[in-house]
Amino acid sequence: KAPCPQGESLQVFKGTFIHATHTSPMETLTPLILGVNRTGKIVFIENVDKEEELSQAWHFQKKNIRVLREREEFFIPGLVDTHIHASQYPNMGTCLDLPLLEWLVRYTFPVESKFKDPKFTEDVYTKLVKRTLRNGTTTACYFATIHTDSTLKLCSIIDNLGQRAFVGKVCMDLNDLFPEYKEKLCESVVETKRFVAELTGREYPLVKPIVTPRFVPSCSSELMQQLGSYASSEGLHIQSHISESRAEVELVKSLFPECKNYTDVYDRHSLLNDKTIMAHGVYLSNDELKVFQKKGAAISHCPNSNISLGSGLFDVRNALHHQVKIGLGTDVSGGYSPSVLNAMRAAIDVTKILGFQSSNYERLTYQEIFRLATLGGSQGDDRNMVEVYVAGKKVVPFPNA
Ligand code: GUN
Ligand code: FE
Repeated sequence: KAPCPQGESLQVFKGTFIHATHTSPMETLTPLILGVNRTGKIVFIENVDKEEELSQAWHFQKKNIRVLREREEFFIPGLVDTHIHASQYPNMGTCLDLPLLEWLVRYTFPVESKFKDPKFTEDVYTKLVKRTLRNGTTTACYFATIHTDSTLKLCSIIDNLGQRAFVGKVCMDLNDLFPEYKEKLCESVVETKRFVAELTGREYPLVKPIVTPRFVPSCSSELMQQLGSYASSEGLHIQSHISESRAEVELVKSLFPECKNYTDVYDRHSLLNDKTIMAHGVYLSNDELKVFQKKGAAISHCPNSNISLGSGLFDVRNALHHQVKIGLGTDVSGGYSPSVLNAMRAAIDVTKILGFQSSNYERLTYQEIFRLATLGGSQGDDRNMVEVYVAGKKVVPFPNA
C-alpha cells in the first residue's frame, strides 16, 4: 500500500511499458499506469483497472495523466551509456583513419588539451550533455580530461540539465608521445582527491565521482597503486580501458612482463572490484573473464568504436556465458555517434558478423541488446537496485547481481 499521499505532487503516465528483467530480456506490459513523485521515484506501477482507486488515494485527476497512444507509442527505461568521453565531442564523426594508439596521439590528446580553457569547456560540455539527453541517455559514465576545474564544470552542467552521471577526472602521468598532455604523479592523485572532495561537497543528487586512470600505458605503477587504494578506502567507483586493440595488449605485456595478462595488471593495483567498469575488453581471454566474474567487475561494450578504430569484435555472448556484467557504451569519439540506440544497432551488427564467422555461434537477440542498453548498464551501480513493483508484484531485476 502506498504511504499517505497527502501533499505529494505526482506525475502520472499511462500506456505500454517495455522493460528488461533478469528472467526476460524484454517484457511488454500493457496497459499500465505509473506514478512518479517529486524526487523522481516511481511510487506505483499498476494495471489500468486500478486507475480510479489510485487517483483517489494519490489525489490526481484524469486530465493530468499523460497517456501514450496505444500501439504506436511506448515507455522504456532511460538508456545508460556506460562509456563516453565528453571531452572528445569536438572530434566526433571525424579523425577515424588511424588505429587506437596513433589516433590518441594525433587527434585525441590535442583536443583534450584544449579543456584548460573555461570558455571552450562550457561551450562543448553544454552541447554534449544536451545532445546525449536528446538521444535518451538518462545515465552516463563520463571521461572528462586531466583538468580538475573543467571536469567540475562538466559536473555542474550535468546537474543543471538533470542527467544522472558518474564523472571522472582523467589521470595520466605518462605520455612520451604527447608530453604537453600529462600530469605529475603526485598532482594526479592530489587533484583526484580535490575533485572528489569538491564534487561531494556540492551535493548534486545525481552526479557522482568515479576514479579514472586512463589506461595502463598512460599510468605509472605508482599512480595506479595510489588510485586503487584511494578508491578502495573511499568506496569509489573506478573506470578505465582494457584490451581494446592487439597493439595495446602487446604494449601492456611489454610494460608489465611480470603480470599474467592485462587484467592482472589492474588487479595487482587494486583497480578491479565490483565498482569497476572497464571499456572494450575485446581481447580478454576466458581466464581474464573469470577474474572479472569473480571480482564483480563490469565491461562496457563499445561496438561502434571497436569497428570505427578497427580494434576488433567483442564477443558479448562469451562474456555473458562467463556471467560478467555488461553494458553498452558509445565511446565518443572513438565511436562516431553519441546515441545508445546507435550502440544497440552496432551491437547487432557485431553479433551478426560473429555469426558469419562461425555457423553455430549463438547470436545476441535484439531483446538481449535492449537489456544491455538499459538494465545491463545499470549493474555497474549498486544504487540502481531499487525495489520495483509491477502490478503489485515485486520485480528483482538481477537477483544475483
Ligand atoms: N584508451 C585510452 N584512452 C582512450 C580513449 O580516449 N579512447 C579509446 N577508445 N580508448 C582509449
Ligand atoms: Fe574510451
